[in-house]
Amino acid sequence: MKVSEALLKRRSIKAYDTEITLSEDEIRTLLSLALETPSSFNIQHWRLCAVTDPGVRKQISEAAWNQAHLREAPLVVAIAADPKAWKDAERYWRNSSPEVQAKMAGMIRQFYQEERLQRDEAIRSGSLLAMSLMLAATERGWDTCPMIGFDPVKVKQILAMPEDWIPVMLVTVGKGVKPAHPKSGQMPYEEIVFRDSFV
Ligand SMILES: Cc1cc2nc3c(=O)[nH]c(=O)nc-3n(C[C@H](O)[C@H](O)[C@H](O)COP(=O)(O)O)c2cc1C
Repeated sequence: MKVSEALLKRRSIKAYDTEITLSEDEIRTLLSLALETPSSFNIQHWRLCAVTDPGVRKQISEAAWNQAHLREAPLVVAIAADPKAWKDAERYWRNSSPEVQAKMAGMIRQFYQEERLQRDEAIRSGSLLAMSLMLAATERGWDTCPMIGFDPVKVKQILAMPEDWIPVMLVTVGKGVKPAHPKSGQMPYEEIVFRDSFV
């Protein structure tokens, strides 16, 4: 499947076949593809929890206004991000020469001093990864739904997420049993896309 086909095919699917599960190999393939996502300075802020346990999915669903897709989908990928990942600066350039590694680490440490930027960057990285995951899943015949309709404090507790990590998004993965709603109202291209400046 071409990327353009996957972009057109992907829809948010909210009802899943509870009998169809993903193998461990398939989960690893999907998540490994998602990990090819770019990140600023290659910091890879994302942290993923592949949730397949029905009991844990039920708890997450309860912390998300009982949205049924979280209970039904055989895989829920909880995407979190570590806003302090930049502190380990050298690791992300360890395949480069010592000079490049030192230069990049210095730039990273200088760039990420501001707390708001740390958080923005973590959410940006996790969000980009979510899209990669959904496109990879679409190509491999799975349906998905990105979700932020959950109580972040409760979901952090359920998944024992470290206190300083940020819950970015949940993505359900499975075989849909109902088509997506018709597109609910796309904005006109001309209203969204500007040329050379935003006026
Ligand atoms: C960041 C984000 C959060 C979302 N949260 C939820 C959610 O909590 N529950 C849900 O059913 N759908 C959720 N959606 C799905 C949107 O409703 C859906 O993407 C949108 O209506 C467009 O439909 P489509 O994805 O089928 O093109 C979310 C989508 C995004 C991108």
